[in-house]
Amino acid sequence: VSAEGDKSRFSAPADVAALYSRRRRFYETYVQTFAHRQGIRALLTRSSLLAGDQRILDAGCGTGLSILALTDALARLQLTYRRIDAFDLTGAMLDTCRQTIERESLHSIELRQADVTRLREQLPADWSGYDLVLCASMLEHVERADLGDALASLRERLAPTGRLLMIITRRAFYPTRWIWHCNGYSRRELREALAVAGFGPPVFRRYPCTHWWLNVGNHVVEATRDSR
Ligand SMILES: C[S@@+](CC[C@H](N)C(=O)[O-])C[C@H]1O[C@@H](n2cnc3c(N)ncnc32)[C@H](O)[C@@H]1O
Repeated sequence: VSAEGDKSRFSAPADVAALYSRRRRFYETYVQTFAHRQGIRALLTRSSLLAGDQRILDAGCGTGLSILALTDALARLQLTYRRIDAFDLTGAMLDTCRQTIERESLHSIELRQADVTRLREQLPADWSGYDLVLCASMLEHVERADLGDALASLRERLAPTGRLLMIITRRAFYPTRWIWHCNGYSRRELREALAVAGFGPPVFRRYPCTHWWLNVGNHVVEATRDSR
């Protein structure tokens, strides 16, 4: 990924965790306002990514919105999952996520606190062989120079036929970048980072027109573990 010279002021994991601890409630209002959960659910429901009995990893699960979008989509498609594992850097976000899982009586979901740039040390070895890794609005918080390595460590967790669905802020979408102190990427930068990480050529998707506004600030990218 090209050096941009506008490295986020808050890319250090401790700063990112402090930001999300402080703004957890604001985050919940923010995503409700823009219907993020419903948008990801619509995206997943209309994709070919879900099947029965899958093992799924939610990378950067936050308060659990992306897990709920996932379980909503599976329910709509009348599919069951084998197991959903999820991790996040911020303890406060994980606390809310735990409460969400309990409130919704969701089963077979395990949570861990982990930094995507340190997964080899921080996640159990059997957190691997996933059919799908969902990574929604997390990787823009990693230092630009670490994006390729972070993607590579997610790729390692996929089953040979597994796929990644990544939602990530667009380079020129300054409102999100300013509010959440995050990086943004062009398609070219994402292609490069995914290739460096060993993924097959990415397919750029879009949120369905029911949630068109989410396309303004986000790339939706699907990639296979291997170049096929
Ligand atoms: C914008 S929220 C997205 C949460 C959730 N995926 C969603 O769609 O609502 C970003 C999350 O990424 C987490 N995060 C940021 N940097 C991370 C890192 N290096 N490793 C793991 N999680 C990270 C933050 O703690 C925060 O919960």
